[in-house]
Amino acid sequence: MIDSGIEKVLINFSQIQSCCEKMAKTIESYSVDTKEAPLLVGLLKGSVPFMAELIKHITIPVEIDFLSAHSYEGIQSSGKVKIDKDLDISCLNRTVWIIEDIIDTGRTLLEVKQMLLERGAQDVVIVTLLDKPEGRKVQIEADHVGFTIPNAFVVGFGLDYNEKYRNLPYIGVLKPEVYL
Ligand code: IMP
Repeated sequence: MIDSGIEKVLINFSQIQSCCEKMAKTIESYSVDTKEAPLLVGLLKGSVPFMAELIKHITIPVEIDFLSAHSYEGIQSSGKVKIDKDLDISCLNRTVWIIEDIIDTGRTLLEVKQMLLERGAQDVVIVTLLDKPEGRKVQIEADHVGFTIPNAFVVGFGLDYNEKYRNLPYIGVLKPEVYL
């Protein structure tokens, strides 16, 4: 059932599931080499459905945590990030897998990555469900991308418009009348 605010479905649930299965295998194979339970850190709130689907397909012990952060206001990236909800698990000497819903400008992610490395993370691996490369304003790329999409505003599977649509089980494009 398609929500009445949605113009078209860009990525359906079965595509998201297959993508999560593949990403889960990547995370598992890395941990077979390191013998370490992967530490997955979801960026709130958009990563919640992606994290939930991804960990269902991981068959080895895994640790999860969540971080809520945003860049300081302004056009230029400040190099600092404001933390609204910090990690409960230490990232010291750990490989941290950042789980993100979408990378657009890349500002928040760049600052979070720098912060985790400054805190002593051994490595930071970025996993994003969606990538909008045309929106990039800073130099950062994900290590693992589910789907590369055009520069359109999308909702669903964690992504919101005014806090709505996060619960849709697919990624869709909003009808213009919703936001115009
Ligand atoms: P950025 O990469 O620092 O610009 O920020 C990425 C964040 O912006 C994501 O985690 C989303 O919360 C939000 N965002 C970017 N593009 C979209 C979109 O198309 N729909 C909904 N949220 C978006």
